[in-house]
Amino acid sequence: MDYKDFGLVNTKRMFADALKNHYAVPAFNFYNMETLSAIINASRNTHSPVILAVSESALKYMGPDLLRGMIWGLNLSPNDNIALHLDHGSSFESCVTAIKLGFSSVMIDGSKLPFDANADLVKTVTEFAHQYDVSVEAELGTLSGIEDENTQSTTSSYTNPDDVVNFVERTNADSLAIAIGTSHGAYKRKSDNEELRFDILAAVAKQLPDFPLVLHGASSVPEHFIKTINEFGGQLTNARGIAPDQLRRAVQMNICKINVDSDSRLAFTAGVRQHLAQNPENFNPRDYLAAGRKNIYENCLDEIKNIMQSGK
Ligand code: G3H
Ligand code: 13P
Ligand code: ZN
Repeated sequence: MDYKDFGLVNTKRMFADALKNHYAVPAFNFYNMETLSAIINASRNTHSPVILAVSESALKYMGPDLLRGMIWGLNLSPNDNIALHLDHGSSFESCVTAIKLGFSSVMIDGSKLPFDANADLVKTVTEFAHQYDVSVEAELGTLSGIEDENTQSTTSSYTNPDDVVNFVERTNADSLAIAIGTSHGAYKRKSDNEELRFDILAAVAKQLPDFPLVLHGASSVPEHFIKTINEFGGQLTNARGIAPDQLRRAVQMNICKINVDSDSRLAFTAGVRQHLAQNPENFNPRDYLAAGRKNIYENCLDEIKNIMQSGK
């Protein structure tokens, strides 16, 4: 199935426009009808492009047929500016599977491999994907935290700006995720004073002046969701995200895709916990799932406006 039959687009034109106009395209992860509809409605109501990100474990959770049915049901056209993206693809085969399912963009994550092995892997993926006009994201440098339910890295290494030109030329990747101090999950910083490594970002952007850079692990972990979760029975202590002003600063320095998953998880959990605690007699999943969905929708609207600056 060709992604164009779904009315999807790849990320090339979105990123060119984002770079030119200094905004970031949001990549929001989804894994069911509620998360997908919240993200799409936020995108439609702000006229923002959006990248629908699906991890390998989310693909397994939904199943390929249901996932394709939901994308089909969105009735998209290229004017909607929506990409369907494999997040943290772990192998060439995984990227091929996604492309055959109708994904318009894939990430091949060789970030834990040595430089040469990472570059070789990305090259095999770009050679395949570009035949189908599918865009490819690669990663150089490693983030800490949980990237997939199967992998958790405890170490991180910043991207070396001296490597990036060689890597992009060798691989023909369409965008590059870099490590400048973000990490996956809800526990990103020990104190409010910790800053991203803008010196590294500036050096990378200088080497690759017109090239789309990507920030993973960029949830801002809104305090009000943590407060609500903890108020209604949760136990999330010391959760801390990336401050929105730091993300906005990164957007002005060629970051044109910002990945957000944890914020939606927190938004959803806060809505469900609050609803169930306040309505102990209720056992209708549509009611508490709607509360979670509403929170994700509102948070996506907020981030599109105040972090990504991608709405019209
Ligand atoms: O960065 C990756 C996402 O947060 C995916 O997590 O594999 O649990 O869906 P997941
Ligand atoms: P967060 O855990 O910060 O939401 O990061 C999500 C991500 O990078 C998905 O690829
Ligand atoms: Zn990620």
